[in-house]
Amino acid sequence: LRRIVVAIDGPSGSGKSSAARGVARRLGLRYLDTGAMYRAVTWWALHAGVAVDDADTLAARCGEPVIEVDTDPTAPRVTVDGIDVSRPIRSREVTNAVSLVSAVPAVRQRLIARQRELIGDGGIVVEGRDIGTVVAPQAHVKVFLTADEDVRARRRAAEGLAGMRVEVDLTRREMARRDRLDSKQMMKASDAVVLDTTDLDLDQVIDEICALANERV
Ligand code: C5P
Repeated sequence: LRRIVVAIDGPSGSGKSSAARGVARRLGLRYLDTGAMYRAVTWWALHAGVAVDDADTLAARCGEPVIEVDTDPTAPRVTVDGIDVSRPIRSREVTNAVSLVSAVPAVRQRLIARQRELIGDGGIVVEGRDIGTVVAPQAHVKVFLTADEDVRARRRAAEGLAGMRVEVDLTRREMARRDRLDSKQMMKASDAVVLDTTDLDLDQVIDEICALANERV
């Protein structure tokens, strides 16, 4: 397992983050949340006064922020120019803007290169939208998590973006919009195992993925 790469892709609310962290902790692996990196660039743009719908400026300036991520699954931390943004990147403002930023090819190129560096020799669980297809097509284990839209919206609302409980209906609408904008990025690898988490609790999802990891190595 020392060099294993576990790729976990899927839409928001599918349980990716909790599952990926749980698997990493249980197997003693590192953890990389690629969504947090897109969120960090978005947070930076909002603060640097770069309009998130201005693709040209984003492309020209996306190299400016220094983004560091901690791959420790017990305390995944993200900093932008030395500022800890782990919490603010979960705000509704960032969540609703991130799909515009992640659609800019230059932003993707930069972050994907950085993600590959962080994956390095492996020993890591990586979560995102395009991990099994683009970032790490060589991954030993590829899982694509899904869940009913209803359940996903309820999970997201319960998480309470940045600590605030948000209405389920509003969350559902915002989630559907983000899924639509993200659909170009989100791809299921042909060799990914699809895991529907609608009726599974977190431990069951972690069990399934750990079993796959143990099978593949
Ligand atoms: O996973 P999370 O919801 O935190 O991801 C935030 C956003 O980052 C997604 O809505 C998507 O726009 C973008 N993303 C991406 N590719 C990834 C991970 C996230 O485009 N591998």
